Amino acid sequence: MDIKADESLSKLLPRLEAYCKSLKQVNWSELKLRIEDEFPTLFHYLYSLYGNHYDFFYYLEEILKTAIDANSNRPADLKELDHKRIKNPHWYKSHKHVGAVGYADLFADDIKSLEDRIPYLKELSVTYFHLMPFFDCPNGENDGGYAVTDYRTVREDLGNMSDLTSFAKMLRKENISLCADFVFNHTSDEHRWAKKAKEGDQRFQKFYYMFDDRAMPDQYDANLREIFPDVRRGNFTWVEEAGKWVWTTFHNYQWDLNYQNPDLFNHILGEMLFMANAGVEIFRLDAIAFTGKELGTTSENRPQAHCLVRALNALTNIAAPAVVFKSEAIVHPDFVNSYISEEECELSYNPLLMALMWEALATREVKLLRHSMEKRFAILEGTAWVNYVRGHDDIGWTFSDEDAAEIGINGYDHRKFLNRFYTGEFPGSFANGEPFQFNPDTGDMRVSGMASALTGMEIGLQNDDQHEINLSIKRMTLMYAVSMFIGGIPLVYLGDELALLNDHSYKQDPSKKGDSRWVHRVKLNENTLARRKESGTVENRMFSNIKALIDIRVSNHVFEAAETHFHNTGNPHLFAFTRENPEQKVLFIGNFSEHEISLESDFICDIFGSGHTLKDLWSGKDFQIHHHLSIDPYQIIILTV
Ligand code: GLC
Ligand code: GLC
Repeated sequence: MDIKADESLSKLLPRLEAYCKSLKQVNWSELKLRIEDEFPTLFHYLYSLYGNHYDFFYYLEEILKTAIDANSNRPADLKELDHKRIKNPHWYKSHKHVGAVGYADLFADDIKSLEDRIPYLKELSVTYFHLMPFFDCPNGENDGGYAVTDYRTVREDLGNMSDLTSFAKMLRKENISLCADFVFNHTSDEHRWAKKAKEGDQRFQKFYYMFDDRAMPDQYDANLREIFPDVRRGNFTWVEEAGKWVWTTFHNYQWDLNYQNPDLFNHILGEMLFMANAGVEIFRLDAIAFTGKELGTTSENRPQAHCLVRALNALTNIAAPAVVFKSEAIVHPDFVNSYISEEECELSYNPLLMALMWEALATREVKLLRHSMEKRFAILEGTAWVNYVRGHDDIGWTFSDEDAAEIGINGYDHRKFLNRFYTGEFPGSFANGEPFQFNPDTGDMRVSGMASALTGMEIGLQNDDQHEINLSIKRMTLMYAVSMFIGGIPLVYLGDELALLNDHSYKQDPSKKGDSRWVHRVKLNENTLARRKESGTVENRMFSNIKALIDIRVSNHVFEAAETHFHNTGNPHLFAFTRENPEQKVLFIGNFSEHEISLESDFICDIFGSGHTLKDLWSGKDFQIHHHLSIDPYQIIILTV
């Protein structure tokens, strides 16, 4: 393979050089070095994907030209950023990074008015802002923007491309990186490629998986999961205009793209690099697990998906080296970790940590959380987790059944319990969530709801129960604390820092009422925002806690380059880990129950040795090791020497 790569490269370079001469603003000597660096990798993955196409060499050249075109159109300040990031490739590992995620029309009104929210982001020390989908999409149902009609046009009510590029530029000036979704598993059925396919254009029909009859769909369906069983059974949708079945993993109007076709690959690369040139620095690779399809398999987490993303990664290293990828794989934890590497996705959501913090909160026991983190938290050196408590999607119980069985938990029954707990059906539950996508055949279900509603705030407010309200704030603070200190970039789901509640108004909107995830996509209003400054309000208490956690994170170097070790305190309710580098060591303890706990001091002495005065970074108090330590309900302790 390497010999072939060398031969191809030597044939290609003069052709690419000639092409570059026809373009403006290309620094050929610089690009040539990057192409030479990336070529063995790129060739390997493209060859794995498309080596059996008679016109492979043609596409190889076209794909590289797409990268060169993009680089020639890349604005000067982004090229400067490229150089900065090449010198500091692991920039995202810094403890100074804090992420936040929000919708343009919920966190503000549109993209322009987001500019006025930058001071608020600065107040929270945000350095990474994920702007939820903002591209053109169908009116009415559009899966919250995850059905993209045009990757180069902003949804009309949110503004236009120039609003986006100037917002991205403003963020950059403030050292905030813009993250955006790259929805590349599917387009909407209104995308120009889909429209052409409907009209019968064969070139564009090959951009999707289209079939004349049920023969192939039935064979595929035999092994596929159903992601939105409420919407439709099976994974294919009949397209009347074309007289064909099309693969639709998600909604009927989200058509899966066919990456077996190098023509499509080349087109999607162009769309991605266009977004990079508009100022997107972090691409959230949406539904990455579904992008490789293969008959006779589940068509999830296939080798082709990895080849595809690795090829795209090599191409961004050529055209827009500042860019990094974040994996959105909400799947079995073995597979989540398989996407994470510097050659593939430098960043990844940590859905296991997310789900298991909720699990621990419901059971008041940390054994599954600790056991799973011990096994699975460590990832490769140059990569980082993105840790979150809530997001715009449902909570899926994606822990490993094998991990659970090892500590005597039956995964199927446990998920049933968790669903009942978080939808408030389980007696004594503090949660007020809504069911999402119940599958009657498998019994599978997920849960929607804002963090505050799932931690007891809604019920506390209904009953005017101050104690329950206090507990809810403590529960949210505890989970956010874990996400800040465990290692990786924490991501604040905007609204959580103000304890925003569920919004049930989606039930009145015909385009939303079938999708309970809208219950936790909540509009921020100015009054709520102002209340963060009014002492004693729920908003003020939650905001102060989140801000205090962030301050501790960004001012302690140990949260940067430090290993994480998990510890068994001997008490079932306490989650404990240390972070350690040659200069500093920190012990985090969080009580996942409403019980007051007495912890023997031996545990702490084993970690720090005896005779030290320790400091609790959270309470700010000095701390002597007595014979035992008393820990309040849901209390967090962050000890250091
Ligand atoms: C991702 C998004 C989710 C969407 C799905 C289909 O998982 O997070 O909101 O429904 O992809 O695009
Ligand atoms: C499934 C998918 C994930 C998607 C989610 C939406 O969990 O794996 O990609 O975001 O469904 O509910």
